[in-house]
Amino acid sequence: MAEKLKIGLIVGTTRDGRFADRALDWFEGKIAAREDLDYEVLDLREAKLPFFDEAAPPAAKPVTSPEAQEWERKLEACDGFIVLTAEYNHSIPATIKNAFDYAFKGWHRKPIGTVGYGGVGAARAVEHLRLIAVNFGMVPVRGAVSIGGADFVKASQGTPIAELGDHLDAPARELLDDMVFWGRAAKQAKAEAAREQHRPAAR
Ligand SMILES: Cc1cc2nc3c(=O)[nH]c(=O)nc-3n(C[C@H](O)[C@H](O)[C@H](O)COP(=O)(O)O)c2cc1C
Repeated sequence: MAEKLKIGLIVGTTRDGRFADRALDWFEGKIAAREDLDYEVLDLREAKLPFFDEAAPPAAKPVTSPEAQEWERKLEACDGFIVLTAEYNHSIPATIKNAFDYAFKGWHRKPIGTVGYGGVGAARAVEHLRLIAVNFGMVPVRGAVSIGGADFVKASQGTPIAELGDHLDAPARELLDDMVFWGRAAKQAKAEAAREQHRPAAR
């Protein structure tokens, strides 16, 4: 079997009582059951990134804050990312945008997927996130989990997501399959590009 890819599971909201923990409880079970993926939870509450305050964009100059350096190091160790996102005023929460702004190399040329939740399953936030990801040379995958409508209401009131029925299983599987496909494609292409760069020039 091919080498396991490592996925960073980003918990994007930080407030007390966040719904994100319910989504994480459920989705962690799905990703942990995969034999082709490893993962690490990257919780923005724990990352404690300051509001962006660097002299230059991280694409141009290495970040200086210790929290951001640790964040970049964690991102670089991953082959792709799944962001657990709410929708705040029709876009991604500012915490997630700030986490994007604080790095470059760690995001570059990797797949990214989403588990969105909210009234409309964070659909508008997810589309914004995909546009942002393109600026990092990322591959936004088609598969996506959307916990919306009655599911979101019931889960907010305490029904575990696993007990909502099995209709979220197929989207979760499709998302994880897409992460494997594009994660492997990106990793292979990067390895080939690195070999090309180090090949001696023909005389
Ligand atoms: C500042 C703010 C803005 C919100 N804007 C939207 C919105 O535009 N669309 C939506 O469906 N829900 C919106 N909501 C409701 C969230 O979907 C809901 O509170 C969700 O639980 C937030 O995720 P969290 O609990 O992980 O923070 C908003 C909530 C907050 C706190």
